[in-house]
Amino acid sequence: MPDNRPRRTFAVISHPDAGKSTLTEALALHARVITEAGAVHGKGDRRATVSDWMAMEKARGISITSAALQFVYRDHVVNLVDTPGHSDFSEDTYRVLSAVDSAVMLVDAGKGLEPQTLKLFRVCALRGIPVITVINKWDRPGLSPLGLMDEIEQQIKLRPTPLTWPVGEAGDFRGVLDRRTGEFVKYTRTAGGATRAPERRMDASEVEDVDAEAWAAASDEHELLALDDYDHDQERFLAGETTPVMFASALQNFGVAQLLDLLLDLAPAPSETAGVDGTVRQVDDDFSAFVFKVQSGMNSSHRDRMAYARVVSGTFERGMVVTHASTGRPFATKYAQALFGRETTSVEHASPGDIIGFVNAQALRVGDTVYDGAPIDYPPVPSFAPEHFMTVSARDIGRYKQFRRGIEQLDQEGVVQVLRSDLRGDQSPVLAAVGPLQFEVVEERMTHEFTSPIRLSRLDYQVARRTDAAGAEELKGLRGVEVLQRTDGTYLALFTDKWRAGHTAREHPDVLLEELPAGGS
Ligand code: G4P
Repeated sequence: MPDNRPRRTFAVISHPDAGKSTLTEALALHARVITEAGAVHGKGDRRATVSDWMAMEKARGISITSAALQFVYRDHVVNLVDTPGHSDFSEDTYRVLSAVDSAVMLVDAGKGLEPQTLKLFRVCALRGIPVITVINKWDRPGLSPLGLMDEIEQQIKLRPTPLTWPVGEAGDFRGVLDRRTGEFVKYTRTAGGATRAPERRMDASEVEDVDAEAWAAASDEHELLALDDYDHDQERFLAGETTPVMFASALQNFGVAQLLDLLLDLAPAPSETAGVDGTVRQVDDDFSAFVFKVQSGMNSSHRDRMAYARVVSGTFERGMVVTHASTGRPFATKYAQALFGRETTSVEHASPGDIIGFVNAQALRVGDTVYDGAPIDYPPVPSFAPEHFMTVSARDIGRYKQFRRGIEQLDQEGVVQVLRSDLRGDQSPVLAAVGPLQFEVVEERMTHEFTSPIRLSRLDYQVARRTDAAGAEELKGLRGVEVLQRTDGTYLALFTDKWRAGHTAREHPDVLLEELPAGGS
């Protein structure tokens, strides 16, 4: 039987080190999906290495693979879609954001807003995703809460609407004032946060003497916030004008239950979605889903290729034959999997908001739609402005076939963007990336997975602008600019720097030179 409980599908995003992995584990622990913190991300030696791919991930201590974690909380099914920790893989994060209905932004209380925090907020705004902000690490000395609110308002242009307010300064954390009920939620330190932290709720009248001074200060600030209109407003939150804020310590499991409650109470459920032609699919219409991520090489024992899709409408049933929108061909879903950390189990049913992985789905690419019933094609997942460019060629020309296959595969997965031009030919295309670490992944996988070691050579370009065929013609032969074509047909004009891009735009006002959404590092 399909599980029809209401869904919440979200991602946790942050600048690296703000505590994303810690919070993910704490959420899973709280929801009683797993019994020991660490089982999801497998930090340290808790998980055996299963492939070279993961060896690299482990050596660097970063999460490259994305997975979804599903658990039940207060009779809702919660889907937490994981994102990579390293900012070089931010393009991957942006894709994940196309598959969620809301995001939880973690901010390190000691550091405030960091470069990746700002970029991610912008991407959420671009995609219309409501964001809940969690100020994390409140158990340690940090910035003032009012100062942090000011930073959010000034730098992100979102109005912060705190739902909880800290009692006691960062580092001398007593708990929070629940601004919706006026209660004091008292914080109890636990050893390493390995168990569920007890949170004691009490009325203002029950606050003990030791906390009285900190409580009075918090109550004062709470009233000031209310007077200045920093209270939660559901409509403005969903419209992307405000961000509810709460204070937490993921390491100590404090605030985790409050966050889950907020997600259920405030975050949007899956809703109707429009296709490219404007056709709208309601969640209870026939089944449809779109692919937001393709990945292979996760398991060295067999060549696998997973296409991760988000269910948009209807009920998915394993074995159903659906239509692949971009080719019109039937697609059999015999091997669909649900994802749980790195464990995968066969999925029988899935509902709107759920993430399913199609095994060995050679035909599916990022952005592709599959559907049952009336045709629907969802808009493509946007790609972001690359800032790093390299030419790539096979070290051993005898392995050119493997080289071509590998580059094509990595292009389809979106590991890098592949750019070509008649001038450069197919033996030495240009790879474009948001972050330089993406090239290391290409090198690693081309050598080990596709058995064609490569030669990479840096190009002196830093800026890409979208142009068209006419623009490509007009810019031909100009100094400091080169036009190449992406596999999806888009023309990109590459410039050595912003100045030259601006100068060219002024000199050739009739040429289309459009900025792409900002990339990563
Ligand atoms: P990330 O996924 O966002 O990159 O961050 P991660 O969870 O790995 O956390 C980064 C560091 O911050 C870790 O310390 C983690 O223990 C610590 N941390 C996370 N949340 C909190 C919190 O609420 N309070 C405090 N005090 N620390 C927190 P580490 O020493 O780098 O790693 P580890 O050896 O402890 O895993």
